[in-house]
Amino acid sequence: MRDLSWSDVTPETVYLRRRQLLAGAAAMSVAPLAAALAPLEFRADRTPPVDEVTPEPIASSYNNFYEFGTDKAAPKKHAAQLTTDPWSVEVSGEVAKPGRYDLADILKPHVLEERIYRLRCVEAWSMVIPWIGFPLGDLLRRFEPTADARYVAFTTLYRPSEMPGQRSLWSGIEFPYVEGLRLDEAYHPLALIAVGMYGKVLPNQNGAPLRLVVPWKYGFKSIKSIVKVRLTKRQPRTTWNESAPREYGFYANVNPDVDHPRWSQKSERRLPSSLFDQNRIPTLPFNGYGDEVARLYAGMDLRKYY
Ligand code: MTE
Repeated sequence: MRDLSWSDVTPETVYLRRRQLLAGAAAMSVAPLAAALAPLEFRADRTPPVDEVTPEPIASSYNNFYEFGTDKAAPKKHAAQLTTDPWSVEVSGEVAKPGRYDLADILKPHVLEERIYRLRCVEAWSMVIPWIGFPLGDLLRRFEPTADARYVAFTTLYRPSEMPGQRSLWSGIEFPYVEGLRLDEAYHPLALIAVGMYGKVLPNQNGAPLRLVVPWKYGFKSIKSIVKVRLTKRQPRTTWNESAPREYGFYANVNPDVDHPRWSQKSERRLPSSLFDQNRIPTLPFNGYGDEVARLYAGMDLRKYY
């Protein structure tokens, strides 16, 4: 696979840089993954031409990860308690190859790439993060979804002993956190399984050891610390939709024309932002990835399917 250069993509909208970081090493466990990623810290050429990458300390300290608390600072404060080794993912449902796969087996055949994506949170702030991962579709195809599979459902780890937010009564959501995608969305090449960011292994607060990144959808679709993947015939339950169905839909495509019932989605605060300089920018349909993904929703009323 060759590197894509900026001339291969449309910088304003795609905003993506793919780079072969690592050809799937024969036996890769988490420690070798860290070793393989380490030299990337020293690469000089990662500034994208359009938006600036969010400083790493912000991306790793201003988080939504309710398993560790609802405060933006809580995940970084508490996530060190989480043990991510050993880790396995249970694959079930409409697949020819169900089973429990160790993290090393999940990663082994894949080529890791760096992709710089905007992340637009439903709370109207955004960041630009250089993720490291591989296409979700490449992973799903390995399990051989049956002809009946139409959706994919994900579940986050449930381990209250290490996740203080799961012991709290005040989070407003039920655990374990669950999310899902229509299968054609999941197969879209922009949908990523991320295992790293900023050239390093994912910090726990960002969803280690593996999480989803769906850049054209509000951030809550990008479920963290995944332990289950299930292929289904029917649309799966999703955490925020169950918690507040009028506010959060299944699709959750970034859409400046559909306001949240309690606030506008027309603009976003690009972090870093402060009281004095909000750094507010207009929100783009599909978070700027419309040229790539709008066709997935052709003919759908996006006000109804929000
Ligand atoms: N995944 C789980 N398991 N629990 C969560 O609370 N929060 C979501 C998403 N994934 C969340 C989650 C929300 S609302 C956002 S905006 C992103 O994670 C934030 O990702 P980041 O902290 O890496 O920026």
